[in-house]
Amino acid sequence: MKIFLDTANTELIQKWAHTGLIDGVTTNPTHLSKEGKDPVEQILAICDILPSGIISVEIVETKPENVYLQARKIASLCDNIVIKIPCHEDYYSVIKQLVNEGFLVNITLVFSLVQGLMMAKLGAHYISPFIGRLDDIDQDGIELVKQLRHMIDWYDFDIELLAASIRDTAHLEQVIMAGADIATVPAAVFENSLTHPLTDKGMAQFLTDWKKLNILHFP
Ligand code: E4P
Repeated sequence: MKIFLDTANTELIQKWAHTGLIDGVTTNPTHLSKEGKDPVEQILAICDILPSGIISVEIVETKPENVYLQARKIASLCDNIVIKIPCHEDYYSVIKQLVNEGFLVNITLVFSLVQGLMMAKLGAHYISPFIGRLDDIDQDGIELVKQLRHMIDWYDFDIELLAASIRDTAHLEQVIMAGADIATVPAAVFENSLTHPLTDKGMAQFLTDWKKLNILHFP
């Protein structure tokens, strides 16, 4: 299973890149806007931090012909960039064309099983169901991940299930159990998910007990 960081913040990506746990990054227009810097420079900096990572960068054009041209330009920025395109019917033919031309496409803003099926049929490489945003409208985001997993396996589609809009550790644990291929997580959720109070407590207890031996050199 791959773990992506859901951010465009280079400090946060740098902080965790060295662990070897981060397989990629999902940026989006909101993340890049929050950084307030030149987006191309920011994207190149992210690619530089994770040269073998998978970096999603979203189109911001709206007309299909412009989306196509922009997608190609985004992909040319760096070898490890995946083009992120919203799951909207206006872009179906663009997605198909890009896939046929060999570009890697991550379909974002997926909110239903049927949307996911259609994107798999178009040959997209990644689909990103948004869990938290479904939960926000009282629908079950995790259930969608389970349905998509079943659909991909049942019909043997060659597409990676990228669980997105993850809000907390419970979401992360649920998408692991649901069989997502990838989870993209905000840095704070990633960080919180690594710790457990019993790990800290256990470490302190072991050291306290060890000191009772009064041994100066070991081993
Ligand atoms: C995924 O690629 C998106 O960037 C992200 O998961 C959106 O999450 P949000 O609903 O918390 O904004």
